[in-house]
Amino acid sequence: MTSVVALDTRSAPSTSRASATIHIALLGCGNVGSAFAALVRDGSQNPLRITHALVRDCLRPRPTLHPAAERVVTGAALFTTPPDVLVELLGGIEPARTLVLEALHRGIPVVTANKSLLAAHGAELRAAATRSSTPLLYEAAVVAGVPFLSTFARRPHAAEVTSLAGIANGTSNYILTRARDARCGIDKPLADAQRLGYAEPDPSSDIDGIDAAQKLVVLLQHFAHANIRTDAVETTGIRAIDCADIDHAAELGGTLKPVIFADWTGNLQAFSGPAFVPLRHQLATVDGAENAIILNGRRGRLVFRGPGAGPEVTAATVLDDVLEAMTTPRPVAFPRLERVEPTTPETGWFVTLAGSRLPGGADIADLLSSYGIYLQRTSASGRERFAAMTWPASRARVETALRAIEAAAGATVQHGAARHSCVAKHFRALEV
Ligand SMILES: NC(=O)c1ccc[n+]([C@@H]2O[C@H](COP(=O)([O-])OP(=O)(O)OC[C@H]3O[C@@H](n4cnc5c(N)ncnc54)[C@H](OP(=O)(O)O)[C@@H]3O)[C@@H](O)[C@H]2O)c1
Repeated sequence: MTSVVALDTRSAPSTSRASATIHIALLGCGNVGSAFAALVRDGSQNPLRITHALVRDCLRPRPTLHPAAERVVTGAALFTTPPDVLVELLGGIEPARTLVLEALHRGIPVVTANKSLLAAHGAELRAAATRSSTPLLYEAAVVAGVPFLSTFARRPHAAEVTSLAGIANGTSNYILTRARDARCGIDKPLADAQRLGYAEPDPSSDIDGIDAAQKLVVLLQHFAHANIRTDAVETTGIRAIDCADIDHAAELGGTLKPVIFADWTGNLQAFSGPAFVPLRHQLATVDGAENAIILNGRRGRLVFRGPGAGPEVTAATVLDDVLEAMTTPRPVAFPRLERVEPTTPETGWFVTLAGSRLPGGADIADLLSSYGIYLQRTSASGRERFAAMTWPASRARVETALRAIEAAAGATVQHGAARHSCVAKHFRALEV
């Protein structure tokens, strides 16, 4: 699969409206929508005006919204006087999908921060934008604090990328960083993240790896022109990580990070989940809520790193997209996405075993090798803990081997019933 230009901007007349007032229909006035409204209100140099705001609750005070902005609860009202640009900050699929498609159909540029919508319907939205030659900008949907997607849309040769790795979920990264530094499990850092507003009251999407997998799917639309279902990407979360896993990773010269990875040099391979990152790797020092994306291509490695997305930083990126949408030359044409089924790569694995009476390290190594899993190095080896790095192997092979060890090492009989007291975990390992 090759990368080609994401936005075709050849022979395009400018539609710059820099001097005219830009009328914005704002879909959603929650965390990001209110921060965006504040930027519009406070930016006297911007010729921007929010004319309509779609919300669920019209009566709730919206202090950052200009009093003249009309609040509406049905999308139809947004198009009675068509806006110059539609800013979608609702989240979720509907009504966002229908309203974005309607705007694109009418030739109204769209700016969205909605990775869920793009991950599920990116191909459809891009096709609609291409049909009506209308800008569709989504810089804020993926690592909003590190704007880089639009640059590559304009620079097709730089965008010839064949693999990427990154940290795209600031919440998980914050939790794992705090757990490592405080030498604790993830429960307390998660509670702190919720208190500080880094994590939602229901943190599942972040800590189960779904948010990062959706971002990976959007990145693969952008750089690999691949149309992938999010649920086809190998996705794991950070819930199972405990303090001992983090300590063993350090003993083996690395750290656990919430990673997204994809390589489409040949068949597309991808995963989203916590991985052992060697300390010499550029992602190893991306700590706290920070994000980073590394792009590898024929011309070398590009690294983008910066703050995790919060409402203010996301709103600023949305605002830049609005201004860019107003000056994007036409025609706009997105490349067609190719439907691809991702496979899971063969990588090294960081494995940990915990139990009350584990076999010795040499016996564990023997058992693993009988399943084709070979150890590079081990850290803890005793009757209760074992941790090691393996040479590259498939997920299926490592899981079969670890199930066999759990059965062999953990089976005990209590009151006539078998109990398995050995717990094996496996995390992918990145190479430097
Ligand atoms: N939060 C971040 O830091 C961040 C960072 C990057 C990207 N994003 C993305 O930005 C988008 C917005 O996130 P957010 O945190 O601002 O969400 P949020 O706080 O939940 O706000 C959602 C807004 O949309 C409105 N809304 C939702 N469903 C609606 C419906 N069916 N009809 C009418 N209005 C509806 C809500 O109305 P009410 O106010 O009346 O409930 C609310 O104003 C999401 O796609 C998210 O993934 C967020």
